[in-house]
Amino acid sequence: MSVKVRSFAKINLGLRIGAKRADGFHELLTVYQTIGLHDVIRVSVERGSGVEIRCEDPRVPKDESNTCHQIVRKAMAMLRAKGKVVIEVEKRLPVQGGLGGASSNAVAAMLALERALKKSLPPAADRLEIAADVGSDLPLFLIGGTVLGVGRGEQVYPLQDLPAFHCVIVTPEVGVSTPKAFAEWDRRSGTDPCGADTPVRARSDRRSGPTQVSKLTLDSASDRMVELGRGLSAWLSGTFLGQAYSGAPRRGRAENLLLALVRTGIQNDFEQVVFPEYPELREVKRALLRAGAKYASLSGSGSTLYGLFASRAEAVRGAKRLTEQGWTAQATALLTRPQYSRRIFGR
Ligand code: C5P
Repeated sequence: MSVKVRSFAKINLGLRIGAKRADGFHELLTVYQTIGLHDVIRVSVERGSGVEIRCEDPRVPKDESNTCHQIVRKAMAMLRAKGKVVIEVEKRLPVQGGLGGASSNAVAAMLALERALKKSLPPAADRLEIAADVGSDLPLFLIGGTVLGVGRGEQVYPLQDLPAFHCVIVTPEVGVSTPKAFAEWDRRSGTDPCGADTPVRARSDRRSGPTQVSKLTLDSASDRMVELGRGLSAWLSGTFLGQAYSGAPRRGRAENLLLALVRTGIQNDFEQVVFPEYPELREVKRALLRAGAKYASLSGSGSTLYGLFASRAEAVRGAKRLTEQGWTAQATALLTRPQYSRRIFGR
């Protein structure tokens, strides 16, 4: 008998790339947010041994490089379980899309495996460790909702859930390689490959990127992390306390909270290396804003972009407008932590 689970996507609400570390990873600061779009994973345990991945999408690897494969092998060893694990992946999320599809699939496969075997992995810390071992943005999917990500993105802290803002997700055809995007960031910023916290940009223009390497005094990567940290905490605390931007009294609460986000200048650093390479993605961001998004951004290293809207009706209208312009666009909503954990195994 197979166990079916939903494997939800995430978006990044701001992402700052910090210094390159000695282990080759970059320090990151981001807020992950789970959303309603998902893949479906089915896991069964049969007689035999090994792991088999089935997926109709040819872009999904079926060998050990698949994150589901890696996590299930680790989990089987920790559970001291025997059998052949068959994982079916019904792919609806984009591959290499910046929505964390592969990472989410892996966590979903691990949760489904536990159910299929009727066995539980050791307490939370160990599951987080197994997940982090497989990839930087797996652990967030063990928490769901609004999640702060630090370290290389694998250190996760549940934040108070944001209101269930509505959003439009646009999935362009191109796939962006995350390692290549990081490498391009290093190339443009002149980051010391040995991990030194090398300055990258002008203090005179705090929102500019490594493309504007500078003439004046330069920010260090850690300054830039602090800057985003301040912006995020100002926005999040305003959001939670209901004290966000109040300059437009006739607007609804959701709209005010989103305008407050815009005012913080929270950004995704990957836009600075991905947009020059794929100019059509910058166009999508502009199209989202023209279609009424209060805030629009690349998710992770892309190629998915999202826009946050003040209401479901506006998101649906926005998605329709983008679809008419030839983009693949879907309206959905942010998933809070309780919704996320309910819906993973729910109908
Ligand atoms: O952790 P994950 O397997 O998702 O990372 C894929 C690649 O992305 C890493 O091998 C590394 O090149 C790059 N990466 C990074 N810094 C991070 C996360 C990922 O440089 N914080």
